Amino acid sequence: MGHVHARSWTANAPRGHITAVFDVSEERARALSDQHTGGKARVYRDLGSLLADPEIDAIDICLPHHLHADAVVRAANAGKHVMCEKPICLTFDELKLIRRAIDDAGVTFVAAHNNLFALPLIEARRMIGEGVLGRLHHIRSNEVGRNSSMRTRHAPVRLAAGESTFAWRLDPARMGGAELLDTGWHGAYRMLALAAAANDEQEDRPVEVVALLSNYYMTELLPGEDTASVLVRFASGAQGVLVTSWAFGGPMPNWQFEVAGQHGTLAGNVTSLVHAAHGWASAAERSWDTVHGETYVREVTHFLDVLLDGATSRASWHHAARTLQVIRGAYRSAEERRIIPLPEDPTSL
Ligand SMILES: NC(=O)c1ccc[n+]([C@@H]2O[C@H](COP(=O)([O-])OP(=O)(O)OC[C@H]3O[C@@H](n4cnc5c(N)ncnc54)[C@H](O)[C@@H]3O)[C@@H](O)[C@H]2O)c1
Repeated sequence: MGHVHARSWTANAPRGHITAVFDVSEERARALSDQHTGGKARVYRDLGSLLADPEIDAIDICLPHHLHADAVVRAANAGKHVMCEKPICLTFDELKLIRRAIDDAGVTFVAAHNNLFALPLIEARRMIGEGVLGRLHHIRSNEVGRNSSMRTRHAPVRLAAGESTFAWRLDPARMGGAELLDTGWHGAYRMLALAAAANDEQEDRPVEVVALLSNYYMTELLPGEDTASVLVRFASGAQGVLVTSWAFGGPMPNWQFEVAGQHGTLAGNVTSLVHAAHGWASAAERSWDTVHGETYVREVTHFLDVLLDGATSRASWHHAARTLQVIRGAYRSAEERRIIPLPEDPTSL
């Protein structure tokens, strides 16, 4: 992910540029600096030295999951603004530590929730906000794809010397969960964002969650689920359904979201949005000339908008905290085989 983010920073120059890189593998850090900055970005051997660099205003964290909380807290304590890959962290205690660190330091935190920047989703949220669907009844968020590279352990990207991208993912202590926490995270925050769109972008709080988890394709490999079905009830009464999997993809056109409301339905993916109002003879479709990779460029643009222009963060600590609560609630539901009530405080279950 470091290279994907580096390309996104380059695409956003000169509003922001990469000053320095740190990776436990110095070769990887150097390769990233060479490839994306022509070697201009300094390479640090430890995080502390990078954070002590006064030229750095912000840090973009693309580390394995178990390292997120510590890196965010240390960056905030050093007075750096932070963008951090999903999941923000693994536990509610870590969530609280992050909150305290960013508040005490007065720095900005933005979660790298790139799928919020899919153009059809942005347009769907605008339409829902304008009341096109009326009251929302049902939100379905799909984040599915057959993950054959994990199954065969052929990494999709070849990195310089260092640990395999699968080593920490197959270690529950470092991964912090399995498919639901990793890829399912995107589907969960998308669902929460769609629910908020009907409420003037104020949260429509998830109040209960129930989940089924299975492992169909990663058996004997992944100690956890590769597929999850999660049901959420929102305070407004709307139902949410998250389907997420590394075992299967979706049939074309592979909707990432489908929303049903009082007046009709919307469905969208990376490039298109379909709107059907109740009573219309046919649906209206809109398409964009874009690709998924551009969502990463737009998330960096958004981080810069928040830092430089005072824009309101669409991927705040609260949004990430609520996402963790839904996912931890789903894991507990599967373990205890019951519906889990979700408290108002996003740092508890
Ligand atoms: N938004 C998305 O679409 C998306 C896609 C893939 C990954 N991610 C997220 O990006 C993050 C990284 O995932 P990845 O697939 O790039 O993993 P990866 O294993 O390919 O890369 C992690 C990097 O961290 C380095 N590293 C490991 N331990 C370290 C340590 N102690 N100190 C410093 N560096 C260390 C590794 O050498 C490696 O270069 C995860 O949070 C993951 O969930 C997001």
